[in-house]
Amino acid sequence: MSSIALRTHHCGDLRAEHVGQTVILQGWVHSVRDRGGVMFLVLRDRGGTTQITLDERIDAEVWAVARQARLEYVLEVEGTVHARGPGAINAKMATGEIEVLPSRIALLNRTKPLPFAIGGAATEATEEVRLKHRYLDLRRPQLQRNFVLRHKLYQATRRCLDGHGFLEVETPILNRSTPEGARDYLVPSRVHPGHWYALPQSPQIFKQLLMVSGFDRYFQVCKCFRDEDLRADRQPEFTQIDMEISFATNELVREVGSSLIRDVWREVLGHEVGEIPVLTYHEAMDRFGRDAPDMRFGLEHTTVDWSASDFVPIQRAVEAGGIVKAMVIPGGAGDTSRKKLDGYTKFVKRYRLGGLLWGKAQAEGGMSGPLGKVDAGLRAQIPGVSEGDLVLVAAGPAKHVHAGLGRLREHIARERDIIPAGTFAFVWVVNFPAFEYDEDGERWVAMHHPFTKPVDEHLHLLETPERLGEVLSDAYDIVCNGSEIGGGSIRIHDDKEQSRVFSALGLTEAEARNKFGFLLDALQYGAPPHGGIAMGLDRWAMLLAGTENIRDVIAFPKTTSASDLMAEAPNTVDSQQLAELFVANVVPEPAEEGTDSA
Ligand code: AMO
Repeated sequence: MSSIALRTHHCGDLRAEHVGQTVILQGWVHSVRDRGGVMFLVLRDRGGTTQITLDERIDAEVWAVARQARLEYVLEVEGTVHARGPGAINAKMATGEIEVLPSRIALLNRTKPLPFAIGGAATEATEEVRLKHRYLDLRRPQLQRNFVLRHKLYQATRRCLDGHGFLEVETPILNRSTPEGARDYLVPSRVHPGHWYALPQSPQIFKQLLMVSGFDRYFQVCKCFRDEDLRADRQPEFTQIDMEISFATNELVREVGSSLIRDVWREVLGHEVGEIPVLTYHEAMDRFGRDAPDMRFGLEHTTVDWSASDFVPIQRAVEAGGIVKAMVIPGGAGDTSRKKLDGYTKFVKRYRLGGLLWGKAQAEGGMSGPLGKVDAGLRAQIPGVSEGDLVLVAAGPAKHVHAGLGRLREHIARERDIIPAGTFAFVWVVNFPAFEYDEDGERWVAMHHPFTKPVDEHLHLLETPERLGEVLSDAYDIVCNGSEIGGGSIRIHDDKEQSRVFSALGLTEAEARNKFGFLLDALQYGAPPHGGIAMGLDRWAMLLAGTENIRDVIAFPKTTSASDLMAEAPNTVDSQQLAELFVANVVPEPAEEGTDSA
């Protein structure tokens, strides 16, 4: 092994214009092709790859070192850049016009046999094996590309928000419980026996306090921690671009948010994001069945008045206060088998719907199938149905109809492959209900968080529990391709109004003071009107990288059961450490570790 020289270029830099130059490259052996008297080594670093070409006529010592090279060995190569012959140019490689003929090769390090291949388009290793050796997984060019995008996302964000007059301020990680409503990660205090810090679910209260402090515009790229069930786009610790603006209106926050999206998409992908449409929550639910609608395709829903129907299940649903909705699948009559229709019925049952009615639109204006039998002027109510279309109808409580038909819409779009690739359909969704009823807890909870301002016209309903569901809030989400990629609201800046909302949520004055007393105090000292938003940075990175797996854009992610397979976290700690924290284990022995899967 020898000492290292300073590199002159990265492996992806060299082009025809460098021909004749002497260069020093350092990196990993990406591939080796030994053709007897000629050898091709491809050297890789973060910037790309370069072909090193050798034949036996070169210096015997260089040849001897090159012969030892194996995949993923670490080399330093000094040599001259040569133009490749016309037949040898590789148009698929950024450096495919040139090759480097080495005058010196130093072997900087060797490797054990790898658990999976780094080169090639894809690896066959399971995600479990890859996460166990994440430092090797991250060597793969596909993943490195994602982190280059993520880096550009951070930089574009800072440039944009600095340009809009935002101050970057850090807020504490060790603090007390915040109001986002997931379970907290708790940290015991050694100096205060029996007391616990909570890791922030978001910096919500602190950013509001910074507005009271007169900071005017705050942002932070920050980690948030939520102990909740994980999904493909959810991690227990994730990153937000968190912002707050004094003297903000709903429109102003959306304008800044849209400007950030435009800058990021332009700088990272060279993609121009046009005007972002705005839907109210009720419109989104009505047309798409979801508050995060995927606007890349149609299959919109229509509310049907079916009071004329004598079909008993529908009548019952309507009498119980339910709704009836239809979805039209253009051209779906011909290619949707009974088996597939049964599959759709099963699909919606997961969302607590009794089933689905279907009909195939016929030439003469009627429908075949179950809908044909019960059609009471139904077809005339659904715009744009023509011969050969499939009509699906669901009836029941609004919540279940929206969920079932909304998810089925996305399922069918994927199945029929009608979602255009490489497009970004952004939409702002505004005026969410302020409160939703938690059926398990049998109480009203804040739909966003309890600091969200109800719209002025609905403030008078706060003291009428049976009408809390009607109260709309000044809250907004930004959605892209059916994923909620940010959310925020205008806040309550008046302590009395804040107390009324706490009380509507069933918090006594003492409970409210205990949880959020310092915020209530601060609101009494000249709090300016303010509002803000937090963008889910990992979800932005997923969209920019074109992946549906959040782990592809987080360097050291957790599995769906919140474990780090490489570091083997969480782990047990010795009883001495627990004793210092005045904590005792109440489980006999933890389950065996290392059996987790992604
Ligand atoms: P909210 O809870 O809506 O708002 O979070 C903002 C955005 O963060 C992203 N997000 C997540 N991303 C990955 N994994 C998770 N577990 C996760 N949870 C949320 C989503 C979401 O839109 N304090 C408020 C913001 C405000 O009112 O200003 C808040 O945290 O993209």
